[in-house]
Amino acid sequence: MTLVIAVMFLSKKIIEQNLPNLNSFKLPLMKNNIMSKLSRKEFIYQIPKAELHLHIEGSFEPELMFEIAKRNELKIRFKSVEEVKEAYKFNNLQEFLDIYYEGAGVLIHENDFYDMTWAYLEKIHAENVLHTEIFFDPQTHTERGIAFETVFNGVYNALQDGEEKLGISFEIIMCFLRHLDEASAFKTLESALPFKDQIIGVGLDSGELGNPPSKFKNVFAKAIEEGFLTVAHAGEEGPAEYVWEALDLLNVTRIDHGNRSLEDSKLVERLAEEQMPLTLCPLSNLKLCVIKDMKDYPLLDMMFKNLMCTINSDDPAYFGGYLSANYLAVAEALDLDNEIIYQLAKNSFEASYLSDEEKDAMIQKVDDFYLENQ
Ligand code: HPA
Ligand code: ZN
Repeated sequence: MTLVIAVMFLSKKIIEQNLPNLNSFKLPLMKNNIMSKLSRKEFIYQIPKAELHLHIEGSFEPELMFEIAKRNELKIRFKSVEEVKEAYKFNNLQEFLDIYYEGAGVLIHENDFYDMTWAYLEKIHAENVLHTEIFFDPQTHTERGIAFETVFNGVYNALQDGEEKLGISFEIIMCFLRHLDEASAFKTLESALPFKDQIIGVGLDSGELGNPPSKFKNVFAKAIEEGFLTVAHAGEEGPAEYVWEALDLLNVTRIDHGNRSLEDSKLVERLAEEQMPLTLCPLSNLKLCVIKDMKDYPLLDMMFKNLMCTINSDDPAYFGGYLSANYLAVAEALDLDNEIIYQLAKNSFEASYLSDEEKDAMIQKVDDFYLENQ
């Protein structure tokens, strides 16, 4: 009863004040103040969203690692899942990469890659991720003697089953390891050509410092010639200069991370003008000491500067949470309201490789959810 009176009082007050923008879009804001149905956490976990920066090998949970190591009769240097988790303490990107490549070493057969990918899909399905664009690192496996096809087929078949059974649409981006040379990247590109129709783009990951995008300009040019889109990790640990190189030499359509762009106002201007998406990864940045505290996360600064920001999980099994946990971590640290979360969810589709019609349909779902649950 009190609630009904309060709503009536507030509606009357707003009408009396003849506030601008009192349209159907604004009305739910009143509802938020008075009788919000969902907590911030529920809102985040339930809002439809897309993931654009996820290394599938980074979704390999220790429990599954032990299971697969056992069935492949391989030893791992840890005695238990707890011991593995205890080792997930990193001072920088390289410390993480060392253990990440080690973990991936137990993946041998196609069904290992399938199981890892399927486990990721089940996780994101539970938090209403409707579309995912995943990275895979062929060289992590081909360098150990695993065939490209084995890796690709395992990942791809799981994604196809995910689309069919869970309704999650997907794209695949193949990353070159930047600590290896360009010749190795060329070889990898060659192996990918028979799967060209199933791989939308190429990316660049692994240790950034000392491995600038310019090192890969020829292989990226060839990839573009073959019809691949391009993305690159840049400005995670590396300088703003690497972001310029990714834009100018690799012709990227998104920057993965891009944090250090903020050090260069001309670059910020360019990124804003082009609405170049940044695939930000808050928990990754915290775990790899790119930021000291989540309260320092520059998301609002970036959004204020009109940068196209998206939130992603990077390597969720290693960094303490999947996509929604990343939204929640920044939302709590920066006290973000639902309107910002809604904007980020829309951005995730806007910055995706979906067609314009598919984007419109997905964004309609986000709008509907927002109006319903604001
Ligand atoms: N940065 C660079 N390379 C990577 C990452 C990352 O966060 N995760 C997996 N490979
Ligand atoms: Zn990454």
